[in-house]
Amino acid sequence: MSANQAPFPAARFRRTRASASLRNLVRETEISVNDLIWPIFVRDGEGVEEPVASMPGVIRRSVDKIVEAAREAHSLGIPAICLFPYTDPSLKTELCEEAWNPDNLSNRAIRAIKDAVPELAVMTDIALDPYNANGHDGIVRDGVIVNDETVEALVKMALAQAEAGADILGPSDMMDGRIGAMRSALEAEGHVNVTIMSYAAKFASAYYGPFRDAVGASGALKGDKKTYQIDPANRAEALRCVERDLTEGADMVMVKPGQPYLDMVREVKDRFGAPTYAYQVSGEYAMIEAAAQNGWIDGEKVMLESLMCFRRAGCDGVLTYFAPRVAKLLNG
Ligand code: PBG
Repeated sequence: MSANQAPFPAARFRRTRASASLRNLVRETEISVNDLIWPIFVRDGEGVEEPVASMPGVIRRSVDKIVEAAREAHSLGIPAICLFPYTDPSLKTELCEEAWNPDNLSNRAIRAIKDAVPELAVMTDIALDPYNANGHDGIVRDGVIVNDETVEALVKMALAQAEAGADILGPSDMMDGRIGAMRSALEAEGHVNVTIMSYAAKFASAYYGPFRDAVGASGALKGDKKTYQIDPANRAEALRCVERDLTEGADMVMVKPGQPYLDMVREVKDRFGAPTYAYQVSGEYAMIEAAAQNGWIDGEKVMLESLMCFRRAGCDGVLTYFAPRVAKLLNG
């Protein structure tokens, strides 16, 4: 206890909790629509809105419907959406060439959104898993996920997304050296204001399960991602990865998953002071939704509380599938 802390009864913490007005006055953290990034899934077709079974309330949309969602996000005040493509299995190859096709699903969606709602920031995912016959984030040779060749592919992917008009590139692949390689390629090609939000502290987590269904990668994935994603037990290694990505030219950094890793968020924010984000991932979302659907928790309250906790831990923003629902509540 600090020296200026009065003892009971001079100090009664319940005084400032006694009314809503007092609670509002002393509240230390706010969550606002400005803190939200909405991850959305895009698929082929027209007029398609297809529910994702493992993520109740989340849908895959065709590009025209993505544009509608983007308009909605913008009108709700959400600053950014993040695109994840559900790629037709016939386009998945060993070398993942579809990843840097300027007209792939994700790049078409970026263009359509930037045409319709230029003010809305569009974030992308950079990793090969949606395009990979092996389901991995990197190119697989003789059972090994090869680093340097993957980085070359990721750079091509990043440039194609920047050309399409992406505002924030989100490398989620965890290959070594990718941030530096992307940053120099972006500078060389004149994309000096394209930002990079590095998935810097991305752990090898079982919480990604429902997402892999959503993008159709679970079937293809052979083995696990432990040779590139960080061991959930490793705090110091995660901090070193964040520092490395910042020195290579990341503008913003992310911790992922979110809620079980908020200790990492606090440490990253305190130590580096960079814009810091966390991803409330598919498994976290599915757990809250499942419990809410069973009537075991109040889903709305837990959603808001969970997001407040991200902010309290030091997040400048949160990637969350709840984004439009939270925005509607916050906008009253
Ligand atoms: C792809 C990627 C994943 C997620 C975001 N980008 C899955 C993975 O690494 O297997 C997970 C998002 C979520 O679970 O909501 N590299």
